[in-house]
Amino acid sequence: MCSERNKQDGRADTGGFRPLSCKEVEKMLSWYRENGRTLPWRTDPRPYHVWLSEVMLQQTRVEAVLRYYERFLKELPDVRSLAGVPDEKLMKLWEGLGYYSRARQLKKAAGVICGTYGGELPADPEKLRKLPGIGPYTAGAVSSIAFGLPEPAVDGNVLRVTARLSGCKEDISEETAKRHCENAVRASIPKGNAAEFTQAMMEVGALVCVPNGSPKCGECPFRETCEANLKNMTEELPARKKLKQRRIEEKTVLLLLDGDRVWLRKRPAKGLLAGLYELPNAPGRLTQEEAVSAARTHGFQPLRTEKLQEAKHIFTHLEWHMTGWLMYGYADPSFRDEPYFSVRAGREDLENAYALPSAFSAYLRVLKEKLPPSEHTESAGKG
Ligand code: ADE
Repeated sequence: MCSERNKQDGRADTGGFRPLSCKEVEKMLSWYRENGRTLPWRTDPRPYHVWLSEVMLQQTRVEAVLRYYERFLKELPDVRSLAGVPDEKLMKLWEGLGYYSRARQLKKAAGVICGTYGGELPADPEKLRKLPGIGPYTAGAVSSIAFGLPEPAVDGNVLRVTARLSGCKEDISEETAKRHCENAVRASIPKGNAAEFTQAMMEVGALVCVPNGSPKCGECPFRETCEANLKNMTEELPARKKLKQRRIEEKTVLLLLDGDRVWLRKRPAKGLLAGLYELPNAPGRLTQEEAVSAARTHGFQPLRTEKLQEAKHIFTHLEWHMTGWLMYGYADPSFRDEPYFSVRAGREDLENAYALPSAFSAYLRVLKEKLPPSEHTESAGKG
């Protein structure tokens, strides 16, 4: 028996990718029914839920997303609440997920959805793609998973599954390869069952057809027909040209402690980690003497210093190689010249008010050990 497909544009070019056969589609759907995870955005796939989960899942793994997702929906249960959320609260809800501009785009798009579509996401992928931050993948995911439209949602997982299945050697970092893959996936969608198909493709990619030399081909519903499995090519596929080397920036991070307060500053409104808070830091690897001078430029008079461990944080195109100094001291009362808006935060403010990117997590752990408990901490004050 073969499930009916959606009508296809006969000219759609699938390049080296091939659509799944009817048998493959059926095997995959029954594999998914048995093995797919129960996830909150699957149990209640409202368009807002699917959209939010897909944006979060672009950042990190399902297990890590779960708690962010639950907390976010508790605070912002619908598009309207997202559209009206203050930026600082939004950043706090996103803290640790990375790519903070995605959260800002989410809010921007929510504003447009309220203004143009009465607070409900449209089903049409063309309309979705016109919204801030929504590209072909997210539009396809929302259209297919939340609305059941026969739209492909091609992310890294689906590219990998389809490239291996097809034995396709196209470079998946090229737009043409993505388009070919989309066409192949579109041609595979079983009629009336786009939502389950999309989730199943993603799930095979997440649980079985995993990257980095460890696919579980023995458990794969496609094991008998997958070109990469049959030809022992799972290591080489999908093909991707060498990524550009990341730029390395050396930094010295300052943990400036004054009693139960730590010095924070707000990053500039534009650029990397825009508008988030950070531990004060300076370019290069500062000696103790240089670090003390740098601390003074923040209006902090150090009394005692301790060298901290080195830490590394990897962004897409950049690596921060950091070293740190912990300093105990006090605020210089004559100091006027703050480079950015700065605050002195207590433990509770760190936990509840200021969003700090995980780039600083090694030093935030030190800070959590050193800051006294929050019981007697007053609320945050401007420096
Ligand atoms: N990765 C990206 N989207 C996903 C989804 N909807 N379910 C599981 N893993 C995913």
